Amino acid sequence: MSIIDNSSPAYGLAAGAKEPALLDVRDLRVTFATSDGDVTAVNDLNFSLRAGETLGIVGESGSGKSQTAFALMGLLAANGRIAGSAAFNGREILNLPEKQLNKLRAEEISMIFQDPMTSLNPYMRVGEQLTEVLVLHKKIGKHEAFEESVRMLDAVKMPEARKRMRMYPHEFSGGMRQRVMIAMALMCRPKLLIADEPTTALDVTVQAQIMTLLNDLKREFNTAIIMITHDLGVVAGICDRVLVMYAGRTMEYGRAADIFYRPSHPYSIGLLAAVPRLDADGSAMMVTIPGNPPNLLRLPKGCPFQPRCPFAMDICSTMPPLERFGDDRIRACYKPAEELV
Ligand SMILES: Nc1ncnc2c1ncn2[C@@H]1O[C@H](COP(=O)(O)OP(=O)(O)OP(=O)(O)O)[C@@H](O)[C@H]1O
Ligand SMILES: [Mg+2]
Repeated sequence: MSIIDNSSPAYGLAAGAKEPALLDVRDLRVTFATSDGDVTAVNDLNFSLRAGETLGIVGESGSGKSQTAFALMGLLAANGRIAGSAAFNGREILNLPEKQLNKLRAEEISMIFQDPMTSLNPYMRVGEQLTEVLVLHKKIGKHEAFEESVRMLDAVKMPEARKRMRMYPHEFSGGMRQRVMIAMALMCRPKLLIADEPTTALDVTVQAQIMTLLNDLKREFNTAIIMITHDLGVVAGICDRVLVMYAGRTMEYGRAADIFYRPSHPYSIGLLAAVPRLDADGSAMMVTIPGNPPNLLRLPKGCPFQPRCPFAMDICSTMPPLERFGDDRIRACYKPAEELV
């Protein structure tokens, strides 16, 4: 085991890896100025992603998942400040001027937002919205853009794609709208797709279909994906690596299978146990981790998870350092991993 040293390669980029990282995020920090003081929503995150890889960012509501994505996309609210660095294909993308950001968002990095209805224009036919993306950013003719949009709707397994081009968003089911969003996001063949809770509003069967679809498209288009979710179970099957976040910090980071089968942090164990169950009378209930995520303005001393942690010890009132262990894994916890049962 070794304590993380910031001069080492970013976590996840195995020493001696041949392929350079597509995205290399170092010490990413997002702070919001509020009337009650500064709030650090993202606290010194480090991760990296290679072409075609999928990273899951997992944590409960308020853990800083969306703000991490917004920081990378240059979409933070006006009271937000960014520190750290994010190299995309070797080029710094944090705090880029608006013009360069627009180009980056149009050509290299796409995002699917938490609520598809806020991203689709309700008054425009779906086909026009898809076609417009190509005409605007790829400078191709309307007819060619139309045909390419039909092909893309086919690729996201939209039934009767050509016919649906003429329909409005409200004529689609939730799952279909999410497929449209995925098609739109992939239209310009981005190298990185950030999907922010793409399935929360959908029922379990449709969720599974969308996840499978994203996984298939990743192979087809060799797109790297950052998959943001509160459900560790959902990402385990499709991610290469997982970053577990709480109160803006890394709790643990490693290969998806390791975290799923051998979680090394009490918070990950809690997330894995937080799944829908059947109550004694047969009705569905949601088992959650007891207690609530902290108010970022009044964080507990030391490990932010400490007040909810069944393994908390006196020493947890000082922040556990991130330590590297096992097969390219990282964790921030004083309790030895093998004692977490
Ligand atoms: N403009 C802002 N000013 C102050 N605080 C903010 C602002 N935007 C976000 N925050 C805070 O940043 C924290 C992280 O928010 P974020 O949206 O990243 O959470 P999340 O992990 O995506 O949660 P969810 O699962 O609910 O989407 C929250 O506590 C939120 O209140
Ligand atoms: Mg969010």
